[in-house]
Amino acid sequence: MKKISPSILSADFTTLAAELEAIESAKADYVHIDVMDGHFVPNITIGPFIVDAVRRATSLPLDVHLMIEDPEKYVEDFAKAGSDIITVHAESTKHLHRLIQQIKELGVRAGVSLNPSTPIETIEDVIEELDLVLIMSVNPGFSGQSFIPSALKKIKKARKMIDSSLSRAELEVDGGIKVGNIKAASDAGADVFVAGSAVFGSDDYAKTISAMKAEIA
Ligand code: DX5
Ligand code: ZN
Repeated sequence: MKKISPSILSADFTTLAAELEAIESAKADYVHIDVMDGHFVPNITIGPFIVDAVRRATSLPLDVHLMIEDPEKYVEDFAKAGSDIITVHAESTKHLHRLIQQIKELGVRAGVSLNPSTPIETIEDVIEELDLVLIMSVNPGFSGQSFIPSALKKIKKARKMIDSSLSRAELEVDGGIKVGNIKAASDAGADVFVAGSAVFGSDDYAKTISAMKAEIA
């Protein structure tokens, strides 16, 4: 079953518990949490403190996307805060293999994300260690950007790489996903779809999520 992971970056934080309840009853599969530090990306967002609050407000798995420098210093805090999946950027570390092991030793599923300009070959030698591969279809930093079409080619390559290895990784796409383009990303081979503005900017979350699921069924 393909999954929808709404990004709370576009949620109303004055009523975060209600927003989480709303996506849970709208049949979201994960909660995507965008962590930005103002260094790896030009924006500052959420830390472990908020992840811990989200953990207490929903039973959905927490899909935590770290867009930070020195991720090895912080993965333990995010694991303790209740993350189910921790995804790090390949561009943010010199020792990706070691960092993946560190995340798994914390009892959390490990993901790796690639910026639009980073080739898929970057993760070829760690693919079997991964629980999730995240292809960025925008440059990370902000919600509400447009889908970069070349991401489709990279999703296809990632699909092939996963299927021709012993990897059980889910293939996730993040950035500019909406009802009108989700099918193309799904046909390219993605399993999990992050959607921020398309879900939280809509009037009816359940209607939007079910329209997305109908496109990828
Ligand atoms: C971008 C984030 C995305 C973003 C998605 O850096 O990683 O998760 O919030 O937002 P939309 O779906 O609006 O592009
Ligand atoms: Zn994200």
